[in-house]
Amino acid sequence: MKPIEHLFCKSAKDMTPYSPIEPPDQIARRLGLNEAKIIKLDANENPFGTAPAVIKALSEGQYYHIYPDPAQVQLREAIARYADYDPDMIIAGTGADEIIDLCCRLLVEPDQMVLSFVPTFSYYSHVIALNKAKFLAIPREADFTIKLEKVKKVDLSKCKLVILCSPNNPSGNLLEEEVLDYFLAQDLVVMLDEAYYEFSGVTFKEKIKNHNNLIILRTFSKCFGLAGLRVGYGMGSRDLIAPLMKIKPPFSVNVAAEVALTTCLNNLSFYQEQVNEMVQIREWTLAQLAELEKLKVYSSRSNFILCRVDGFDAAELSKELENRGILIRYFATNQLRNFIRISVGRRDQMESLLTELQNILG
Ligand SMILES: Cc1ncc(COP(=O)(O)O)c(C=O)c1O
Repeated sequence: MKPIEHLFCKSAKDMTPYSPIEPPDQIARRLGLNEAKIIKLDANENPFGTAPAVIKALSEGQYYHIYPDPAQVQLREAIARYADYDPDMIIAGTGADEIIDLCCRLLVEPDQMVLSFVPTFSYYSHVIALNKAKFLAIPREADFTIKLEKVKKVDLSKCKLVILCSPNNPSGNLLEEEVLDYFLAQDLVVMLDEAYYEFSGVTFKEKIKNHNNLIILRTFSKCFGLAGLRVGYGMGSRDLIAPLMKIKPPFSVNVAAEVALTTCLNNLSFYQEQVNEMVQIREWTLAQLAELEKLKVYSSRSNFILCRVDGFDAAELSKELENRGILIRYFATNQLRNFIRISVGRRDQMESLLTELQNILG
């Protein structure tokens, strides 16, 4: 067969592949473990699963043979009630991931810059590259905060989009309001990712009222336990949402996701209880992890905990845990050399994790 690689876009050829998470059934098979025993603490999912009412509604859904509504009328109305904004200020997507991509497509021309503060959610750099733009990655401070004095020195002339994340994944800290205000006052669009808002209870959504250059992203993958159904949303001014609605693929949110989402939003107290429990488990786990000499633990406003590993190789630690059926996230980037991120699981899962960490780290 003749070579075809020269036909591919340079941007696609040069891209580092997004490192997806290996599904637990495949890991179990690879390691010869029982899948039901795998403790999955690597993707910040809801460890309890979604509400039984959602599973029931999904099993009773009658319209899976019909395309979803491209205008997302019911979906946007349901989200609008939850988010307390008008439906025409909401857009739903195949996860928050899709809205990140749509914002890049709407705003970024090839070779322009998209600014964000690293370490942060790694999918941003992937989508920026996919959209043929350049990632202006500004390092955070050692404690992962962002300093306004430094921000003010950044040249924004080639930048039409800034991506901020609060609480930030993977550091778990909230965004500094003065940094957001600074960017909102510039001639650019701010995409603020609040995927973990339900765990922090802190939102900047009030700023949408006075800033038509702000879009806030949220997801149903985390506290609502719908990661496998892929649904998230953006909220912002009509000036931003209308063009995003125009360019989005018509049927990206599927009918099952729509059924699940509307049922979730009718069962908010169920999820509030789960969030309360996860926050309690997070705080308990933080205190326990802090007792381990080889871990430097960072406080978190989210459903995951970042730790620096001292005096032990984090890759090896992650591998050792995996061999015991416990999956965590390990980082080896410039800003996160020898770090791990642990999602908050059920209390029994965190107890197993702590026992194994003690066994491995001594
Ligand atoms: C900060 C952040 N934003 C967005 C997402 C993606 O959300 P979704 O599953 O809705 O695409 C994630 C997933 O881990 C995340 O951590």
